[in-house]
Amino acid sequence: MGSEKIAVVTGSNKGIGLAIVRGLCKQFNGTVYLTARDEVRGMEAVKCLEQEGLTPKFHQLDTDSESSIKIFRDHILKNHGGIDVLVNNAAMAFKNSATEPFSYQANMTLRVNYFDTLNVCDQLFPLLRKHARVVHMSSYAGHLTRINGKEPEAATLRSKLSSPTLTTNELNDLVKSFLSLAAEGKHEEAGWPNTSYGVSKVAVSALGRIQQREFDEKRPNDDIVLNNVHPGLVDTDMTATLVQ
Ligand SMILES: NC(=O)c1ccc[n+]([C@@H]2O[C@H](COP(=O)([O-])OP(=O)(O)OC[C@H]3O[C@@H](n4cnc5c(N)ncnc54)[C@H](OP(=O)(O)O)[C@@H]3O)[C@@H](O)[C@H]2O)c1
Repeated sequence: MGSEKIAVVTGSNKGIGLAIVRGLCKQFNGTVYLTARDEVRGMEAVKCLEQEGLTPKFHQLDTDSESSIKIFRDHILKNHGGIDVLVNNAAMAFKNSATEPFSYQANMTLRVNYFDTLNVCDQLFPLLRKHARVVHMSSYAGHLTRINGKEPEAATLRSKLSSPTLTTNELNDLVKSFLSLAAEGKHEEAGWPNTSYGVSKVAVSALGRIQQREFDEKRPNDDIVLNNVHPGLVDTDMTATLVQ
């Protein structure tokens, strides 16, 4: 235990996550974990890759469940001792045609895409080994320019979200204030955009910048690198639902 390299991809039973696992199985010199909240969907994806001659390992991981994250963390700790590559890919988006109230969509989207990603990081970051690489699957929708509600309030938000001294607690408070304003339908006049997916990805990108700063401060000799990534527009179930 300990010398073999370990890669983990969240939400990887389909879409971009599955493609990342496929790519890692081909190029990464170590064990690749395909994880999924649903064991059946996860195992089907593993079988599909096995038919291609690839050999990912599977473990259940529901990023929306504290206990599932902890069980996965304990499994990795016990069996491998650490993580070398972590891809935070799991996320959701409502269809453009969704009829749920904006506030409901905002709460759900920020919870899955932002707060759950933060929970995964809080549990798994202590397992990151020297030279680890972390990817947050952000989006072009996570660009700061997407904070484009009423000015000058939006400019103030952009400046807070991009502040080099922003902390996770302050970021959480900003996200919570967006959710409170969304509940009253006042988010746009406070500077926020009318897209909860966009806000979730802007928040994930801001989180990544904070976390890189913290790696640099707390583990200066460990060469841990985190990137926020926009994968390009990819034809998946998510984009299919976005345009419906
Ligand atoms: N497609 C694009 O053009 C595009 C562009 C920019 C960014 N992105 C980002 O790229 C990532 C992957 O997107 P995609 O297009 O591949 O979407 P997708 O096909 O809908 O896949 C999303 C994956 O996340 C999983 N997931 C959702 N909630 C989860 C949870 N609570 N626990 C564990 N897994 C969960 C889904 O599992 P289930 O099958 O169980 O639902 C699925 O495996 C996302 O972060 C997305 O925001 C995509």
